[in-house]
Amino acid sequence: MASCTSIPPVAEDASRDLHSYANPSQVRVSHVEMDLTADFERRNLSGTCTLTVAGDGTELVLDTRDLEIGGVDVADGDGYAPAEFSLGDSDPILGSPLRIRRGTADTVRIDYSTSPSASGLQWLEPRQTAGRKHPFLYTQSQAIHARSWIPVQDTPAVRVTYGAHIRVPPGLRAVMSAETASADAPSGNYRFRMPMAIPSYLIALAVGDLAFEPTGERTGVYAEPSVVRAAAKEFEDTEAMMRRVEELYGPYRWGRYDILVLPPAFPFGGMENPRLTFVSPTVIAGDKSLVSLIAHELAHSWSGNLATNATWRDFWLNEGFTVYIEERIQEAVYGPERAAMESSLEVAALKDEMDELAARDQILHVDLADRDPDDGFTGVPYIKGAMFLRTIEDNVGRDVFDPFLRSYFEEFAFRSVTTAQFAEYLERNLLANRPDVAGEVSLTEWLERPGLPTVRHEPVSDALEAVAKVAGQWVAGAILAREIDTSNWTTQHWLRFLRELPVDLGADRLVELDDVFGLTSAGNAEILCEWLVLSTVNEYAAANGTVEEFLTTVGRRKFLRPLYEQLVKTEDGTVRARAIYRKARPGYHPMAVQSIDRIVDWDVALSP
Ligand code: BES
Ligand code: ZN
Repeated sequence: MASCTSIPPVAEDASRDLHSYANPSQVRVSHVEMDLTADFERRNLSGTCTLTVAGDGTELVLDTRDLEIGGVDVADGDGYAPAEFSLGDSDPILGSPLRIRRGTADTVRIDYSTSPSASGLQWLEPRQTAGRKHPFLYTQSQAIHARSWIPVQDTPAVRVTYGAHIRVPPGLRAVMSAETASADAPSGNYRFRMPMAIPSYLIALAVGDLAFEPTGERTGVYAEPSVVRAAAKEFEDTEAMMRRVEELYGPYRWGRYDILVLPPAFPFGGMENPRLTFVSPTVIAGDKSLVSLIAHELAHSWSGNLATNATWRDFWLNEGFTVYIEERIQEAVYGPERAAMESSLEVAALKDEMDELAARDQILHVDLADRDPDDGFTGVPYIKGAMFLRTIEDNVGRDVFDPFLRSYFEEFAFRSVTTAQFAEYLERNLLANRPDVAGEVSLTEWLERPGLPTVRHEPVSDALEAVAKVAGQWVAGAILAREIDTSNWTTQHWLRFLRELPVDLGADRLVELDDVFGLTSAGNAEILCEWLVLSTVNEYAAANGTVEEFLTTVGRRKFLRPLYEQLVKTEDGTVRARAIYRKARPGYHPMAVQSIDRIVDWDVALSP
């Protein structure tokens, strides 16, 4: 075997999770049973969390952040007895360890309530919802925010089954990343069970005025009543997507796959909570042009939810595999041209982003020591990760690679995987028989080094190359905007067109585009965001109102960041950014607030 393909040297403690205080090697939690009341006035969840534990250690260490602990009891014969516990100092990234003297008890019950500023919860006012009548609550636990609403061993290396009794205001509906065991809307009592063992970052809850519409045998959509029809139409291909992944990688193991459409404040595009993917309403474009996001979250049912990254250093194992599968789904369901357009846009974006990233952040097996795992959220684990797998696929062929991945998911189903374990599995089960490929695809280079290896898969889309050419002609003044035939353009064509334009085009040229194409009133959030960034750079004032409106209604970080970043590049823009942010901030999710505070220097803006 060529020497450059040997298993990369891994630091001794690479498999240890630096982002958890828990001690699963001494005592491990196997089941979590919650009994919680959602109080929208106080903005908290309160009640009990009962943990089933096992192991040799007499002290159980849990992760918490900003939880108020009322008391801890341990099972004692038929009842419970108070247990000694202490809450450690709060670390800004990790929160506080909760140390419980459990002795040999196998059940530990914690009485607690969450903080109104819990990082994993967002409490929405009625006016932040589509219906404007009822409040809304949802959780976002990934990466390390489960600890802000449940005291758990908050590491993806520990898997638990869970159950919950959730009490909500009468009339509202509660949903979780679990099976609904009973639902009583008039009294607001819901019971859930998740019999498959999952990591804590996949425990999820949402409460609101929710309707349901099925889209297939095993699939359906939850959304506010005024949104559910459009959502069900947009996501009608979900069942077909599922069948395709099953053909490739084996049965869907979670029973149902439903989608919950959240209000626009949701800071992500999507979140793969098992049985119930959470999505931003910005994905509903009306023409299914953004459903690769559904393909993505669905793909996590294999990559991530079945075979799970063991630590946040191994995040690329979740996201890179998922982007790879997402593209396979898109290709099967919508055809190779659509898949090629989508992946070429992503790769181009990755290259731009990498130009700005420090070398250490360009590494797949990223070093997150002393850092917030959120800092690892870049295009690298996603797109470079997928490119790595595509490159192997190119070299061995799908005949070999598809069954290889299928057996990987079987081998690691309901388990956590480190980068080293994957590398070893790949070497043993694929590269060992293919020294030719091993010579081309260097694992050390892909996993441990910055930049993109020279031997790599590069997606090409002829359709988008043609668009780029037209854009060039328009920029050069060879053609007018109204001479461009956009009648067959999809979202992907528009994105490529807009990204092809030089940033300093000038406001006059934007006027021409806007007059012909009406971009300032684009209904598609991806196109609109791209256009608004361009408008901001070029100080195209006609779009200012829309910029403000967009930033005060949408909370998806992917859209907020580039707009605020662009605004703060000038003095005037900074004043505007801070004025808009002052209004918008109370409506953003804590994770978005954390990102945007940094961009607009919120501390400075607030000081007199
Ligand atoms: N699991 C991620 C979202 C996530 C990652 C939340 C890390 C918190 C920490 C989800 O699957 C995802 O990748 N969402 C993307 C969309 C996707 C199509 C690239 C997003 O929200 O932008
Ligand atoms: Zn993902």
